[in-house]
Amino acid sequence: MQLRVLVLPGDGIGTEVTREAVRVLGRVAAKWNHELTLTEGLLGGIAIQKTGTPLPDETSRLAAEADATLMGAVGLPEFDNAPPDKRPEKGLLGIRRALGVYANLRPVRTYASLLDSSPLKNHLVEGTDMIIVRELTGGIYYGTPRGITEDGAETRAVNTMTYTRSEIERVSRMAFHLARARRKKVTSVDKSNVLENSQLWRRVVTEVAREYPDVALDHLLVDNCAMQLVLNPRRFDVVLTENMFGDILSDEGAVLAGSIGMLPSASIGDQRPSGAWVGLYEPVHGSAPDIAGQNKANPLGAIGSVAAMLAYSFGLKKEASAVEAAIEAVLASGRVTADLQPSGAPATTEQVGEAVCVAIERS
Ligand code: IPM
Ligand code: MG
Repeated sequence: MQLRVLVLPGDGIGTEVTREAVRVLGRVAAKWNHELTLTEGLLGGIAIQKTGTPLPDETSRLAAEADATLMGAVGLPEFDNAPPDKRPEKGLLGIRRALGVYANLRPVRTYASLLDSSPLKNHLVEGTDMIIVRELTGGIYYGTPRGITEDGAETRAVNTMTYTRSEIERVSRMAFHLARARRKKVTSVDKSNVLENSQLWRRVVTEVAREYPDVALDHLLVDNCAMQLVLNPRRFDVVLTENMFGDILSDEGAVLAGSIGMLPSASIGDQRPSGAWVGLYEPVHGSAPDIAGQNKANPLGAIGSVAAMLAYSFGLKKEASAVEAAIEAVLASGRVTADLQPSGAPATTEQVGEAVCVAIERS
């Protein structure tokens, strides 16, 4: 099969973890005889430095041409006080929107070998296996009006949380569809006791649920959900929520697994005529400037994102499972980076990437 993949390493540790993810992708392609064509583009802080804008037109063009996009992370401290259009994050939001990847899938699961790395007691976290489905191209991240205005003597800032029925419907269908292949339970998260936006969300999700009578639906308010995630994480199967709530809850979910460095994500849009889903794949973690360039970032979130790409954008289930199994094997071997608190000396980013490749070879 032909795999045309755009790589956007981005900033900070993004470049380091992406290098290992690409190495794994190359190894998979070689082993199963796929023809891998890689292109590379600029996104985020590096793009601002080189072209003056966080999402150059060239990058949008390359993404539209590729079958799938693999991203590292964006964000550099030097842009912390930059105007909104000159921020690395703007590039990420722009490419999500340009590709129309409205459903962000963030699986949270615990690995037996990592239980001790979780901040929660083992008996609470053991057996956790959920997927957060975060709406990704709407809500307060994109709503207008927005901005900071000088209003007489006062300075005022405004953001707008907005959703349409169709935006809620399509991401809900994605959640119910995924639930069917899992434990058949969707928990929709909102703030409908306060926000009209959430009242519409709850109404539409409830309507969509009628198309899936075999899937159970319950609703949680977002503050309660934040608490239930640490009190009883095993109760969750598919968590469906809007953009900003999903951003927050997925960082919380990430540490259940032991380290945010472990978490992959897949952002999926519409299905192409070929049957493949338009997809943008990135680890959940950020660019972590404090540890950038030290070869110590955990590449497993990025490598897990490659597994997701193989499964969703290319339908290569066997290859995806092989990558996931290799990640488990490496975790079990204890050859892990410092964030996972290994008992011996921590492995480097590169060593973990190579260990995953070796495990794939053996599979
Ligand atoms: C994420 C990140 C991004 C987001 C930032 C970097 C814009 O936190 O992917 O979770 O808020 O979506
Ligand atoms: Mg986030």
